[in-house]
Amino acid sequence: MRLDKFLCKSSEHSRSQARHLIAAGAGTVNSLKTVDPAQQVHENNCIILNGQILLARPSRYIMLHKPANSICSNVDEGYPSIFNYIDVPAVDDLHIVGRLDTDTTGLVLVTDDGRWSFNIIRPQQRCEKVYLVDLRSPISADVTEKFSTGLLLHGEKSLTLPAKLEVLGPRQVRLTITQGKYHQVKRMFAAVGNKVVKLHRQQIGSLALDVQESDWRYLSSAEIASFNL
Ligand code: URA
Repeated sequence: MRLDKFLCKSSEHSRSQARHLIAAGAGTVNSLKTVDPAQQVHENNCIILNGQILLARPSRYIMLHKPANSICSNVDEGYPSIFNYIDVPAVDDLHIVGRLDTDTTGLVLVTDDGRWSFNIIRPQQRCEKVYLVDLRSPISADVTEKFSTGLLLHGEKSLTLPAKLEVLGPRQVRLTITQGKYHQVKRMFAAVGNKVVKLHRQQIGSLALDVQESDWRYLSSAEIASFNL
């Protein structure tokens, strides 16, 4: 990883502070002075900043219960960012593993481990996402089969991958999908002439949401490892 990133991971410095300190000659890597923030370093290297040995902070893996009217982004779009709910140091280092729409609630994974998140969201992984969906109109009898066969969404060239639909009530279903296309769930129901009025993500992979709205917790080692299929 880059030296400036390592400094952020191992201290309370922001990325720009880290760059300044490195450029000012405050750091050494394996006893050699460096002024290059982009220098590649490994966690096993001996990295010293202002005379202090730095140890990389372990990566963080978080589940958050996203409330409605919050955004999965750092940009202020008139709604609070979900990062406002997570009170940990160096929150700017964290990123979201699969965004939810502003009005969607439920399970969001947050981490600073890019490899872990990439492994979850890469299409080949086919990681299951489970949604509780409330619909405007009663669900038609043929939708389960249409979803399991695959649908052509507006603007797409290929069919959606097979999705599992469980009918819980006339206007409520549980949907399991293994893709993460833009607004996928809403577009799937639009493609069969219905409309999603409420959307809640209950589960990603084998990990089910178990914290209260707006609350968060760290994942256990077993939960983190469960995504390394
Ligand atoms: N699909 C959607 O349409 N919206 C979400 O927030 C998540 C999945």
